[in-house]
Amino acid sequence: MKTVTTQIEPIIQRPRRNRKSAALRALVQETRLHPSQLIAPLFLLEGEGKKEEITSMPGIYRQSLDLLLKEVEELYAMGVRGIDLFPVIPAEKKDAVGSEALNENNLLCRALIALKKEMPEMCVMVDVALDPYTNHGHDGLVNTEGVILNDPTLEVLGNMSVLAAEAGADIIAPSDMMDGRVAYIRKCLDQSGFPDVGILSYAVKYASAFYGPFRDALHSAPKFGDKKTYQMDPANSREALRECALDEAEGADMLLIKPALAYLDIITKIRAHTTLPIGAYHVSGEYAMVMAAAQKGWLDADRIFYECLTSIKRAGADFIFTYAAKRVIPLIKA
Ligand code: PBG
Repeated sequence: MKTVTTQIEPIIQRPRRNRKSAALRALVQETRLHPSQLIAPLFLLEGEGKKEEITSMPGIYRQSLDLLLKEVEELYAMGVRGIDLFPVIPAEKKDAVGSEALNENNLLCRALIALKKEMPEMCVMVDVALDPYTNHGHDGLVNTEGVILNDPTLEVLGNMSVLAAEAGADIIAPSDMMDGRVAYIRKCLDQSGFPDVGILSYAVKYASAFYGPFRDALHSAPKFGDKKTYQMDPANSREALRECALDEAEGADMLLIKPALAYLDIITKIRAHTTLPIGAYHVSGEYAMVMAAAQKGWLDADRIFYECLTSIKRAGADFIFTYAAKRVIPLIKA
């Protein structure tokens, strides 16, 4: 074998010096996860003592309110300060217009009242969209041609938001992607005496295949068509800035980008364009694919999640919705 040797020039810059001990590495660390900036989405089931694992989301459950309250206590003790609630609506209560969404005694309202009574310190967010409640699985009202109707849907979303606020929700998170809904919901909340209930707008929500396991969890996959006339084309980034600018002008208090990992560039761009807090939703499919690989013994799920969430924060997100909060928190050093 021919070997080559040449003179080593003096090396002035040695970045490795800053990596030589755990103490130094901690000192120069640029991005840090904190439990108070992780938000746990939770699936709520009717009944008592009920807990079902979601097949495509190992370790994540649909559970009845009594058990969910225990989980929320556990999350709070771990440092989590925000949860997002998703009710699982039985098929017999779903209809074309999502009537159950406006029942003031529905599962979500009862859960909100109980949660705010038991755990008033926890910030409770409510996802506002019709898909858990409609038998067609779309986020809005639909006409006979299958068109998702923008303006008529606003009224329902406004009423859902006021109901949730009355039951104690801290933040309304519209995830439906109808135009003009932030302004409409803001007006409804203000007129109903809830000027302090905030709006976290799912401003940038892509029409993504990563939502599959979530739709399994709620049995809410669209029965016809897809969501491409209201959710965004994954190919677009200028459009993301437009959506954010509109929602900000309409009165959103915070903006959300969703999914997260395939859209880190979008997070970074939005960070540069708004002074509002921004969040990212590390969605069900992002959780499921790591868990599937971990079940095969191919990846260390917890370390992968830690790395993924760190990258989302590094890209510019202030807070992250994730199903992996309980797995990641033990890895976050004090
Ligand atoms: C409902 C909603 C969805 C998600 C959050 N809110 C699904 C969808 O729009 O089809 C997805 C969350 C996840 O995948 O974890 N509008």
